[in-house]
Amino acid sequence: MKVTVHRKAHFNAAHRLYNNEWTDARNASVFGKCANPNYHGHNYELIVSVKGKIHPETGFVMDMKILKEIIEQEIEEQFDHKNLNEEVSYFESLNPTAENIAVVIWNILRERIESKLELSVTLYETPRNFVTYNGE
Ligand code: NI
Repeated sequence: MKVTVHRKAHFNAAHRLYNNEWTDARNASVFGKCANPNYHGHNYELIVSVKGKIHPETGFVMDMKILKEIIEQEIEEQFDHKNLNEEVSYFESLNPTAENIAVVIWNILRERIESKLELSVTLYETPRNFVTYNGE
């Protein structure tokens, strides 16, 4: 029997989506408003999901206090109120799309969560657009 626990978190960040090898016109055509050279912000909503067996002594899949702290330290402190392109090294040469941000977050958290627990990340870039990644 496995149970999934979820923790919600939030950060605001700016980004610009573009491909250096394309013309401005093609970038504008593919990325729309997200190609704005002067950047723009999103209110990102993050859901971190951890799946595993219930520990018989605690009744927990994972101690949520610890999960909260890991997300605060590793994600919120690194990403909140940042320009992702300019200030977060992972995106120096990686387009900060919701897809790529979700993969980066998953990779960071995977290092901090016991390997016997399954991890998946859901990232909302807008209330209607969101992506999920579980390491596959
Ligand atoms: Ni955008």
